[in-house]
Amino acid sequence: MYRVAIITLSDTASKGERIDESGRVIAEIVRNEGYEVVFQKIIPDEGAMLEALLCGLADNNEADLILTTGGTGFSKRDNTPEATKRVIERETPGISEAMRYCSLQVTPRGMLSRGVSGIRKDALIVNLPGSPKAVRECLEYAIGALGHGLDILKGSATNCAAK
Ligand code: MTE
Repeated sequence: MYRVAIITLSDTASKGERIDESGRVIAEIVRNEGYEVVFQKIIPDEGAMLEALLCGLADNNEADLILTTGGTGFSKRDNTPEATKRVIERETPGISEAMRYCSLQVTPRGMLSRGVSGIRKDALIVNLPGSPKAVRECLEYAIGALGHGLDILKGSATNCAAK
């Protein structure tokens, strides 16, 4: 059973001014897929804070999959992708490309998410957009392939026979 950490980036939700619906949606989807949620936190849109959290979780082997939600758009406070890029050791661009592809089937605004993804140590980090609707659309599309990626990362699958 893989361990999932969920980080919500939102200035308003971190101050308690709105409910973090997106974090709840992520938890529901991953639990349905058999993952264990081991960490869940709401933080403001502060890149340094995200960087520290991602490094702590990955370097101390506290989670296998780290999902962030929010802060991927164009506002001046949206800096999730930049913070993530600073900590990943290997990019996994296909994951973010696939989620944008899937999003574009739903709305042209899917192109506005700048989310990235990559590997640090033994952890896979994936940025999801901020709205609960976008989270559901992207994560339900990607979750199956993420599981196979984790199997390879963790060494329990060695080949990619077509599926
Ligand atoms: N992706 C999907 N699947 N569905 C959506 O509704 N909204 C987009 C985009 N990705 C959307 C989506 C919009 S409107 C924005 S501004 C960007 O995600 C960035 O969102 P964020 O800043 O909340 O991360």
